[in-house]
Amino acid sequence: MTDNTVDPRRRRFLTGTATVIGGIGAGFAAVPFISSFQPSARAKAIGAPVEVDISKLEPSQRIIQKWRGKPVWIVRRTPEMIEGLKGFAPEVLRDPESDKSAQPGYAKNAWRSENPEYLVLVGVCTHLGCSPSFVPEMDAAGMGSPWNGGFFCPCHGSKFDLAGRVYMGVPAPANMEVPPYQFLTETRLVIGIDKENAA
Ligand code: FES
Repeated sequence: MTDNTVDPRRRRFLTGTATVIGGIGAGFAAVPFISSFQPSARAKAIGAPVEVDISKLEPSQRIIQKWRGKPVWIVRRTPEMIEGLKGFAPEVLRDPESDKSAQPGYAKNAWRSENPEYLVLVGVCTHLGCSPSFVPEMDAAGMGSPWNGGFFCPCHGSKFDLAGRVYMGVPAPANMEVPPYQFLTETRLVIGIDKENAA
């Protein structure tokens, strides 16, 4: 005859074992999930958006903010500088409409920015990655003509205008890159995120 009575001590043991095994299973399942949605400190350091205060940036000045290990320049252009972006003869710039260059949609225009007054640019030459010098003066010595202000790369002589558009006849193949960015207020902007990618 089969004994159907259950020893309460044995039941407690079985129930406890099942709970522990279930707990281990849940633990293994939970670890990858947690690690997948919490960015590491390194990921934050190299990829996180950065906020910049531009309230002290005067017309014709530039400030530099590091983002993803690269220098990002913010230049406040004067009305004369904005005017100087127009009217280059077709043979002066390699990609005047920025058709073959890297920028968000809102920066694919004559001044390559959301607001003509502020240029935001990755400060890296598109030839071999040197960091060009800021030469904002009109007709600056040694820059040739036309020169309405811009950037000069001393490594191999590439020249860019004040929208980061590359001149013809220099080694750099493309305009300088415009990163994604967004104005939070009139004097604060965030680099690394924008309205186009925020959805
Ligand atoms: S790296 Fe700038 S011209 Fe070569």
